[in-house]
Amino acid sequence: MIGKANGARIGITGLGVHVPAKVVTNHDLAKLVDTSHEWIVERTGIHERRFAEQGEALTDIARPAAIRALEQAGGEPSSIDLVLCATVTPDMMFPTSSALLADELGMPDAAAFDLLAGCTGFVYAIAQAYGMLASGLCRRALVVGGDVLSKILDLDDRSTLVLFGDGAGAVVMEPVERGGFLGFELGADGGGGESLWLPGSGSRHFDEPDKFVKMNGREVYKFATRVLVSSAEKLLDELGLTVDDVDVYIPHQANIRIIDHAARKLGVPPEKVVINVQRYGNTSSGSIPLALADAIADGRVRPGAKVLMTGMGAGLTWGSSLIEWTEEMAA
Ligand code: ACO
Repeated sequence: MIGKANGARIGITGLGVHVPAKVVTNHDLAKLVDTSHEWIVERTGIHERRFAEQGEALTDIARPAAIRALEQAGGEPSSIDLVLCATVTPDMMFPTSSALLADELGMPDAAAFDLLAGCTGFVYAIAQAYGMLASGLCRRALVVGGDVLSKILDLDDRSTLVLFGDGAGAVVMEPVERGGFLGFELGADGGGGESLWLPGSGSRHFDEPDKFVKMNGREVYKFATRVLVSSAEKLLDELGLTVDDVDVYIPHQANIRIIDHAARKLGVPPEKVVINVQRYGNTSSGSIPLALADAIADGRVRPGAKVLMTGMGAGLTWGSSLIEWTEEMAA
C-alpha cells in the first residue's frame, strides 16, 4: 500500500516514552549463554537493553509513556476518541492492552484496539490513525507502540536473546494547522513469515508448540536491508521527493549494521541518522517512538524538518512514513 496524505493535516502533538528500570548488559547475558560483549557489539552495536521485571506487563510500561504524551498534547484525556496499541506482547490477548489503557487513562468515549504487525507495528498504527483522523471518523488519537519481548525470549538461545529489549512510546495524533504526515508506504510478505515467528502463540496446532521467538537471523538480515531501502525509496518517489529532502532518518533499531547498510544505500549522511540501538536493543514497536524522542531531545527534529521513519519486522512486514514537523508538534 502506498499513499499520499489527502490534504488533511494530521500531526503528532504529544510524545512520551518509557523503558523499564532494569538494565541488562551484554556481560549479564554472557552469564546465561555462550556469548561475549565483543561479539554482540561487533555484530549488532548493542551494549545494553532494558528488561521488565516479572510483574511488569506491557501496559505498565506503556502507561507512563501515554501519560507524558497526553500532558504534552494538553486537553483532557477524555477527549481521546481512538486508542491504538501496536504490540506483539500485550498483557494478554483480551482484554486488549488498548482497552485497558483507555480505561486506566480515563477515555470512556474511545474506540480501542490492538494492532499486530511485528516491529513495524508503530508505523502501521500511525497510518491507521492517520486514516481515521483524516476521514473525520475520530478527532484525537492516542497511538502506542511498545513491546516486552523479554517475556517471549528463550533464555537459552543466544541467537535471539542478545538482540531484543523492552520499551514503549506513545503519541497523540490530531489535526494541525501546518505540516503533518505527508504519506505512507506499508507492505507484508507472509510467505517469509517463518523467518521470524512465534509458532505456539495462536490457534494453529503444532506438535511441538513453542512459546518463544524463533528466528532465522541471516534471512531476516537480508530482508531487513532490502525493505528498509525499497520502502523509503518508494515513498519518496510517490511524494515527488528525494532523499536530500529528508532532514532526519529514523530506521527501526534492530542492528547497527542493518541501519548503516540502509543509510549508505539510500545515501543518507550519518548526521541525519538516528541511532539508539546501543542503549535499548531492538524494542520492536517501541523502537521508532524511542528514537523519535531522542531526535527531538538532541534538536534534530525541529520545526520544518522532514522526518522519515521506516520499520520492518515479523510478518514479515515493513512500512515507511514521512512527516513534516511544525511548531504545534511535540517538542
Ligand atoms: N554470541 C556469539 N556467537 C553467536 C551468537 C551470539 N549471541 N549468535 C550467533 N552466534 C554464532 C553463530 O552460531 C555462528 O557460529 P558458527 O559460525 O559456528 O555457526 C556465528 O556466530 C555467526 O553467525 P551468523 O548468524 O552468521 O552471524 P551474523 O553476523 O549474521 O549475525 C545476527 C547474527 C546478529 C543475528 C544477524 O544475522 C542479524 O542481525 N540478523 C537480523 C536479526 C534481526 O534484526 N531481527 C529482528 C529484526 S525484525 C524485528 O525487529 C522483529
